[in-house]
Amino acid sequence: MHYKVIEQAFTQDELDQFVNYWENNADSIYVTRGMNKLQEPWSLPIVQRIIKPVLDRYFDTSIKNLGDNIYRHDAPYYPHVDISKNIYPCFNVLIPIAQEKPVEQHFIIYDQWVNEYVGATWLGEWYEQQADFDNNKKRAYPYDDKIVEGIYSDKVLDHLTIQGKEHALFKGLTGVALDFKPGNLIIFDSKHIHATGTMTDGWKMGCTLRFAGDYYEYF
Ligand SMILES: [Fe+2]
Repeated sequence: MHYKVIEQAFTQDELDQFVNYWENNADSIYVTRGMNKLQEPWSLPIVQRIIKPVLDRYFDTSIKNLGDNIYRHDAPYYPHVDISKNIYPCFNVLIPIAQEKPVEQHFIIYDQWVNEYVGATWLGEWYEQQADFDNNKKRAYPYDDKIVEGIYSDKVLDHLTIQGKEHALFKGLTGVALDFKPGNLIIFDSKHIHATGTMTDGWKMGCTLRFAGDYYEYF
């Protein structure tokens, strides 16, 4: 299994501290493609105090941290993988922190994976219009991409699509739409394609960390 969910790993009080931190550090937030982000979360005292002790129960957190961010956004992001060039194995740690409204939100992890260790975002029909996107991580469609493995059908599974994005982006992708439930801990092998899921009402906020370790050694 390429992902693991640990329920209720954080208390409401701990999550509230992150929301307060975010609101008190607006100066450090930067915006890229509609995502608001605080960078290098692993170096933040609040992450070391609240998140590190929980992660210590599951893996050796002294392995190299590869960054990522605390984010808040109100529009869904495309299917992608987060791998720094040729730095693999690595795994993602995601902590849903808060959402604006009590609506169902999901985080989709697909069964399909990449066989080249580079960051990638599949933009579908928008591909040609994103010429400057972040060191050429942009790609068109997973189903005809040579770096994607594990696609054995042309089907589109409705619960794994994102409203407002073209269906072809999700052709042949299978997987799971996990609840984006504040306080849970989601860990997965970074080579797997993942996406935000449909967002129709309000923002969601989370913390994502990436570590240079072999997911299958720990989980
Ligand atoms: Fe990601």
